[in-house]
Amino acid sequence: MQEGSASTKGLGSVRAIKPTRLVASSSARPISEISTENVTAWPTGVGEFDRVLGGGLVPGAVVLLSGEPGVGKSTLLLEVAANAAKRGLRVLYVSGEESVGQVRLRAERTGAVVDGLYLAAETDLANVLGQIDSINPNLLVVDSVQTIAHGDLDGAAGMPAQIREVASNLIRVAKERDLPVILVGHVTKDGSIAGPRVLEHLVDVVCHFEGDRQTALRFVRSLKNRYGPTDEVGCFEMTGEGIAEVADPSGLFLSRPDSPVSGTCVTVAIEGRRALIAEVQALVVKSSTPQPRRVVNGVDASRVAMLLAVLERRAGIRVGEMDVYVSTVGGVRLTEPAADLAIALAIASAVQDKPIAHNLCAFGEISLTGDLRKVTNGKLRANEASRLGFVRSVDSEIKTVKAALALALNW
Ligand SMILES: Nc1ncnc2c1ncn2[C@@H]1O[C@H](COP(=O)(O)OP(=O)(O)OP(=O)(O)O)[C@@H](O)[C@H]1O
Ligand SMILES: [Mg+2]
Repeated sequence: MQEGSASTKGLGSVRAIKPTRLVASSSARPISEISTENVTAWPTGVGEFDRVLGGGLVPGAVVLLSGEPGVGKSTLLLEVAANAAKRGLRVLYVSGEESVGQVRLRAERTGAVVDGLYLAAETDLANVLGQIDSINPNLLVVDSVQTIAHGDLDGAAGMPAQIREVASNLIRVAKERDLPVILVGHVTKDGSIAGPRVLEHLVDVVCHFEGDRQTALRFVRSLKNRYGPTDEVGCFEMTGEGIAEVADPSGLFLSRPDSPVSGTCVTVAIEGRRALIAEVQALVVKSSTPQPRRVVNGVDASRVAMLLAVLERRAGIRVGEMDVYVSTVGGVRLTEPAADLAIALAIASAVQDKPIAHNLCAFGEISLTGDLRKVTNGKLRANEASRLGFVRSVDSEIKTVKAALALALNW
């Protein structure tokens, strides 16, 4: 048999299907003639949320807000819904998880009982679509996409096929009506959004709502945004009266005792596009075990281990037989290398039992050689430090961690 005929035979089952020529549903137009009127964002009135969305909600945009159980997703979205209603918009809040009575109770607590905000407890997609038809809202919130099911599909709500179907139906309605839609999404144990990965591709914006259970502080970050940058962070605080925006979070991460205390150092972290003043605290005590303890909170344990080694070898700070505790103030997480210097200074200050100059702010990456490396956004950090009264920072003249220690501890 000839080679050619074999390959023809192999392809025998694959037939090229000619697409039927259809009349175009809308003719293609030159880009210059296309109006942008319908893709302009309107602010929700919750400034920190708008910041993450890239200015506000765009008509027809579908936003997915994910977060761990109890972090405050429903509280935040009820606030957004109430704010939109206060501005004269008609808002439909569909709750698949809580009864309308429960949502009303929360609304009473958070001051979200507003005319123009409609509640519906629905778990069937057809009913949700029916509610949209009868209310004709300007904003739709669905809490959560995992609790709504399409009656004709097999499988319970929350199964990947159901989520895909529900989301694609809601996206279709959003685009048809120019209706902004916010979907709440559950997360799995590992923190990713439960359900098919395709959900994140289908929607226009993916936001993650995160926070530490021990503190009231919450951050909303955007992971994907078809209308704006993804490096913005919104900052909130959970209170008894609901969720409060924190437009200037810097002060939250400082302890500011009356008299200087050893073992603390102030730094500037970058969260999204904003600089945040934060504080590192360290405590060092003689260990009673052969294997000294290293306990960290809010900083990276392996980074602290590396800094301890650098301090010992490059700056003569002995920590080998000491228990070392390092923590941040207010539950902030300092994971960028720029926090190295503040961590090292806090530890050295604790070892020597000498406070660091109270108006000094430190940021810098420390290399294994004990040298200081330049950090990103140095100017932004320095401006934030001076805005909050920190007039001294470890500037570019200081090249090593040893020199920085001399500056910080001998004042
Ligand atoms: N009466 C109350 N007073 C003060 N805070 C409350 C009160 N009730 C609830 N909270 C706070 O609100 C949080 C729950 O918020 P919310 O229900 O918005 O979270 P969620 O992310 O929607 O959770 P879920 O995933 O279970 O739907 C609780 O963890 C609690 O901190
Ligand atoms: Mg909820």
